[in-house]
Amino acid sequence: MKKHLMLLALTLGSCAFAEGLKDLARPHQLHIGAAIDLRFLLDDPDYTDILEKDFDVVVAENAMKMDATEPQQNEFSFGLGDLLAQYAEKHNMLLRGHTLLWHEQVPRWITAGTWTAEQLEAIMKNHIQTVADHFKGRVFAWDVVNEAISDAGGMRDTLWRKTLGDDFIARAFQYAHQADPAAKLFYNDYSSEALTRKSDDVYALVKSLKEKNVPLDGVGMQMHLNLNNPPSMADIAQNMKRLADLNLEVHITEFDVRSAGFPGTAKERNEAMAKLYSDVVTVCLQARNCTAFLTWGVADNHTWLPGDAPLLYDGFYNPKPAYFAVQEALKQPVAQK
Ligand code: G3I
Repeated sequence: MKKHLMLLALTLGSCAFAEGLKDLARPHQLHIGAAIDLRFLLDDPDYTDILEKDFDVVVAENAMKMDATEPQQNEFSFGLGDLLAQYAEKHNMLLRGHTLLWHEQVPRWITAGTWTAEQLEAIMKNHIQTVADHFKGRVFAWDVVNEAISDAGGMRDTLWRKTLGDDFIARAFQYAHQADPAAKLFYNDYSSEALTRKSDDVYALVKSLKEKNVPLDGVGMQMHLNLNNPPSMADIAQNMKRLADLNLEVHITEFDVRSAGFPGTAKERNEAMAKLYSDVVTVCLQARNCTAFLTWGVADNHTWLPGDAPLLYDGFYNPKPAYFAVQEALKQPVAQK
């Protein structure tokens, strides 16, 4: 009898241990996710074990961008995106779409050409509508326009803006909404989480879109942070609040933390990084409109920041102190919002 009780206790204990981040986040109505590199999805069971344990939302790191989905004009390629969509469906995960319109990873047939405003408008519309229509019912939220605000202030002077004028943003959202009325539509940018000139510009942009009744549901805060210069949590909270007042959701879309050059031992660096992860998750839990937290990658063996260690898992797929700090943050009582 005693032996049975012990076995039961062991089983319950290991179940509790096996609880992933997504399970801890669920009572807070928060989704936890990561950007996926399709190469690992296909042949790395350690990688997929982590995905299936911790995450309930995935986004393609590159596979659904314009150069990947429309490599030649009006010749679409959805193979890798479909693979991720199927994987997400099989494992009850949501799929974020990234991204319908950006000034990077634009296919060469566009950058090498010269286009009238009318021609480029047709290209933009066709791309957005074909891709959004293809993934209709499978992508729950799209980053419709990515990084349209300049670091120096004002609108970024991209090929889209130069030829189509500032209003291309509003029209991009309208085209996406026509193609998939049920998808949540996001504006996504970096360095715009705290209260800065850039986040003021993002705020002004989304406020004016809302005033014009453009179909916009939320703002993606990428949050590629730097441990040497972390943003103020109070500022992030205030920024989330002013977006909530516009009736906009916030997704933290690309979280990671650079730490190269951090003065201190490896232990101190790990602890500081753990605190930063935990602080941001806490700010998100306390905001009434912050509904998803995604890291830009899974483990440090694959990050867009080579030589750095910005993620929750190390290069050998061991959870780092940041992982346990997020776990603890998610165990706090559900906030009354
Ligand atoms: O696909 C080619 C491959 O054919 C070629 O052999 C290889 C040689 O370098 O390059 C491959 O393309 C690379 C692509 O990633 C896929 O691995 C590109 O050179 C490389 O520039 C591209 O980098 C991506 C970057 O966006 C592009 O600007 C990163 O992986 C990706 O993490 C990064 O993600 C962005 C978000 O979309 C938006 N926010 C910022 C974030 C980080 O920069």
